[in-house]
Amino acid sequence: EQARQIQQTLAEFRLSKNQLLEVKKRMKVEIERGLKKDSHKDATVKMLPTFVRSTPDGTENGDFLALDLGGTNFRVLLVKIRSGKRRSVEMHNKIYAIPIEVMQGTGEELFDHIVHCISDFLDYMGMKSARLPLGFTFSFPCHQTSLDAGILVTWTKGFKATDCEGEDVVELLREAIKRKEEFELDVVAIVNDTVGTMMTCAYEEPTCEVGLIAGTGSNACYMEEMKNIEIVPGTEGRMCVNMEWGAFGDNGCLDDIRTTYDQAVDENSLNEGKQRYEKMCSGMYLGEIVRQILIDLTKRGFLFRGQISETLKTRGIFETKFLSQIESDRLALLQVRAILQQLGLDSTCDDSIIVKEVCGTVSRRAAQLCGAGMAAVVDKIRENRGLDHLDVTVGVDGTLYKLHPHFSRIFQQTVKELAPKCDVNFLLSEDGSGKGAALITAVGCRQRELEA
Ligand code: BG6
Ligand code: GLC
Repeated sequence: EQARQIQQTLAEFRLSKNQLLEVKKRMKVEIERGLKKDSHKDATVKMLPTFVRSTPDGTENGDFLALDLGGTNFRVLLVKIRSGKRRSVEMHNKIYAIPIEVMQGTGEELFDHIVHCISDFLDYMGMKSARLPLGFTFSFPCHQTSLDAGILVTWTKGFKATDCEGEDVVELLREAIKRKEEFELDVVAIVNDTVGTMMTCAYEEPTCEVGLIAGTGSNACYMEEMKNIEIVPGTEGRMCVNMEWGAFGDNGCLDDIRTTYDQAVDENSLNEGKQRYEKMCSGMYLGEIVRQILIDLTKRGFLFRGQISETLKTRGIFETKFLSQIESDRLALLQVRAILQQLGLDSTCDDSIIVKEVCGTVSRRAAQLCGAGMAAVVDKIRENRGLDHLDVTVGVDGTLYKLHPHFSRIFQQTVKELAPKCDVNFLLSEDGSGKGAALITAVGCRQRELEA
């Protein structure tokens, strides 16, 4: 009977092919709403123009700084790109911590901290006097009117610094550099991490026209036809669109598949009501869904002898790396218990079996939902080009995709099942999105020279 009730709880997370096809269909509807002039203002999937009009062609050249803010790590990078027959990219980077007080303090403190890290990096590289062009990977939704202007629509994930939403973050960075009075930089481009990832991968593989992040957050970008992007003038060629698909469902269109646990995770978050799809799909929240289910099962007496420990009440204990370990098939149950023990949870053998099943169910749904979204994207590209069959490469990055033992497989399988007319090749980004940001910066610099 207990087993039956647990299965009943988990059944809500098990989506049928028809439900997934429905998710794909709804994503398609939201994509169209985001692209159209008369509906884009209240669209949840914002489909933000990026002003990146092509993938790299190998003629990019020069030395660039890049910042990479918004994922697990904040990095400052020096990227040296050489064009021509023996084209190459050399990178140097340093990771810096962003303390939670800074992520959630004032905007000025956040940008002063960023500039402080750049200063340290330039000292380290011995390049303080260079006035390098800079590409800023900023992994949040920005309204762009050009390559080097981006108004922050809203913070997502763990960030909540004041006085940034509605502001041009490129200006905020420039002002912080001025305040410091130590060095000059030329901020040339602001780049979403999905776009950086697509460009990084496209440098190696020209068929890459889609970028996917399955990490702390969840998002995708792709090359859309200019004629379909109604809010940008011009009809020739293509432009990369940052979908901001994490906000899918914010208008209630996924309510029939959201569970009470999803609602609890949302209510406990920094941005209630927002990023509902992301909260079902991405690394920052999967562990929280698991925790909500475990709390409920414990309350009902099915787990941990009915005792809710302080640990279980602690937000964020199940990081992606723990979920990944718990679900690893190479791990014996005894080792699962050891991990739970490490987290401060005393479990019996039966407990560990249940915990593992809960984790597996939640991450499977995440991979499938994400796959349904991607199926909508690749089919949209196929239809754009009037093709019966599309071959395309998706550049992918993110800790969930890279660390989790099953996510990538289930995700790929789902895309294949839901978009049978597309042959999708998935290419893992090895160098992060900083490299892509530098490539975009190189093109931006060349454009400036042409215009001058
Ligand atoms: C990195 C990119 O490789 O992947 C980041 O350079 C990006 O910009 C990140 O945000 C996504 O992964 P995660 O898991 O760190 O959020
Ligand atoms: C969040 C951000 C988005 C980013 C994604 C992955 O969804 O809003 O801009 O691409 O996380 O990092």
